[in-house]
Amino acid sequence: MNIENLLKKTISSSQYRAITILGEQFDRLGIRAFLVGGTVRDILLGKSITDIDVVLEADPQDITSKFDPKYKVEVHSVSQFGTCKIILLDQTIDLAMARKEVYPSPGELPVVEHASFEDDLARRDFSINAFAAGINSQDWCELIDFDNGLADLESKQIRVLHSKSFQDDPTRIFRVLRYSGRLGFDIEKRTKKFMIEGLRLISLLSGVRLTNEIRKIFSEENSGAILRSLDQYEVMSYAHESFPNGADLTKRRDLLQSLRIDPHNRDFYAFVSLISSLERQNAIERLNLGNEFMKFGSDLGRIELLEEKVSRSELHDQLKQISEIAILVAGTYVSRKIKSNLDLFLQELNKIDLLIDGQDLIGLGVTEGPGVGDVLSKTLSYMIESGPLSKPEQLIIAKKFI
Ligand code: CTP
Repeated sequence: MNIENLLKKTISSSQYRAITILGEQFDRLGIRAFLVGGTVRDILLGKSITDIDVVLEADPQDITSKFDPKYKVEVHSVSQFGTCKIILLDQTIDLAMARKEVYPSPGELPVVEHASFEDDLARRDFSINAFAAGINSQDWCELIDFDNGLADLESKQIRVLHSKSFQDDPTRIFRVLRYSGRLGFDIEKRTKKFMIEGLRLISLLSGVRLTNEIRKIFSEENSGAILRSLDQYEVMSYAHESFPNGADLTKRRDLLQSLRIDPHNRDFYAFVSLISSLERQNAIERLNLGNEFMKFGSDLGRIELLEEKVSRSELHDQLKQISEIAILVAGTYVSRKIKSNLDLFLQELNKIDLLIDGQDLIGLGVTEGPGVGDVLSKTLSYMIESGPLSKPEQLIIAKKFI
């Protein structure tokens, strides 16, 4: 089957032109090259594509330096798996060397070996991701359907290429549920059985790989439904016993939508906020989320311990070291009274500033030393209880504490 017509219909003219140029250049260099994976799957589904994935039977590093110099190609990054990102005609293209993957043990990253193009298709996760289409002139747009992927696209099902697929790479459990939710496809019967057998291997995945998969789900258009589908197999609890279920996570993410916080991390703030304070540190370590999240987690714990009845200065003292993000996030689930205290802190108490400093106090006759800080902090506490003051008013109050 030749997919040139489909290609023309689904991709932009600039994408088409970039692929044509690549094909010509690889012809010149005598290298076989193919569009692969999700790129071909989406073209067959008639969807527009954002990523152009190309596999070569050659090492892509430095390959673009051998292109006709009239084409300006930027090389952006080179990865440990012999892939590199290039920009050609404003199009980002991932070039990868055809490879075989050997998995030393479940959950670990594969050891990669140079291989034939057929081996490269055989290492892939699902039949609907194991397509390729030639870009050299002799097989331009000829579809290679490694394992009846077309039939699976038609019957709307996701099927692994072999029974050990989830053992090789347990991230594929997240992937199969993500594709199923995105495309509205069923998971083929045996594939589902292999997936269920592989669930216990999720615990072997590194934090980085786990976070990466969860982040990919967060960025799907119908992420809520996908997260809820994880619950059917308790996928999150296989990753860590403290992780929230998808249904709760979806609700908490919705609550955080309206907050003015960094959208890249917002969903993980929702995630961490659902974990019990005793387990938060472990869970953040499991996800390898780093120090910023450690601070966020411990800040949430401190907010959750706040008492409802506190004076304004006690409230200020307890919250002054806490990050605004933690206060905003906690505000979505604490009691109404605590929430109004958090608002009072953010909207009023946190904005009260000392306009006087040590020099002003020394001018008033205070001797240099710890006494200076003491008077300043008493003046601040006074304002926190009674409201902000101008600089001359602050000086009058400070005098009383000398
Ligand atoms: N792949 C795989 N096993 C994985 C990850 C990726 O076999 N654990 C293969 C699949 O063939 C996939 C290709 O590598 O199509 C590229 O991976 P990725 O960019 O993650 O997937 P896409 O199919 O491009 O999916 P998406 O549409 O989500 O970007």
